[in-house]
Amino acid sequence: MELLRTVAELRTHLAARQPVAFVPTMGNLHEGHLSLVRLARARGGCVVASIFVNRLQFGPAEDFDTYPRTFDSDCAGLADAGVDVVFAPDEREVYPEPQEFRVAPPPIGEALEGEFRPGFFGGVATVVLKLFNIVQPRMAAFGKKDYQQLMIVRSMVRQLNLPIEIVAGETIRAADGLALSSRNNYLSGAERAEAPRLYRALASLKEQLTDGKRDFRVLESAATADLQGAGWRPEYVAVRKQADLQLPGPTDRELVVLGAAWLGATRLIDNLEVNLPR
Ligand code: PAF
Repeated sequence: MELLRTVAELRTHLAARQPVAFVPTMGNLHEGHLSLVRLARARGGCVVASIFVNRLQFGPAEDFDTYPRTFDSDCAGLADAGVDVVFAPDEREVYPEPQEFRVAPPPIGEALEGEFRPGFFGGVATVVLKLFNIVQPRMAAFGKKDYQQLMIVRSMVRQLNLPIEIVAGETIRAADGLALSSRNNYLSGAERAEAPRLYRALASLKEQLTDGKRDFRVLESAATADLQGAGWRPEYVAVRKQADLQLPGPTDRELVVLGAAWLGATRLIDNLEVNLPR
């Protein structure tokens, strides 16, 4: 496995290694990331994973400085998973001058995550577009754990005519249902035991949708109250359409239930797709 730090080195290296399958990450890798590497691997070609903690997508009060950086173990995991090239640029390589041109995400980027993390999707879309231009992959893998991010990347690729296939990886969960996330590292022992409640609240909402309940607002409020009752600070629990994350109507069948909530000082997100029979 090659470790490359500059755009020039990467371009030279990849010139004779097409096609490229790409897995962008911010490091602190877990089984969720490695499952994306395996999806990329299955496509054949050269697998490139990037490790870059992107300041642009963190708000001023967010955890950019403390975001877990575990470079050596990340590289060991990527090598084991069969990555060919790790691209790990420093900030000056990605942002050699102030990043004045930015990608403006569509209006849905201001709802859900975007409402509580202003600027987040602009920062994500900008760095993802830059990484796509640098790596020039034919395929890129993103996890469904960040469902809204996946949807926004997909629509960016569509609307800007990028010749890249976006492949979605399923959320990987611990045995108790907790979605794997780098931010799970922030949880204390007691919080870790409590954390699967978010998954259970979404799973219960999903079950009620499957049972035919359609009063989305009532279902969302009940899940929110469940979390609040256990000491969480929920930001949203929402039933949306899978395709565009807009509000569903009574006849929509492909739904997704999304939630974000603070457990102590840690913000967790999760979601579950709901495919109702026609
Ligand atoms: O999902 C992430 O880890 C990041 O948002 C991404 C896509 C690597 C962009 O920084």
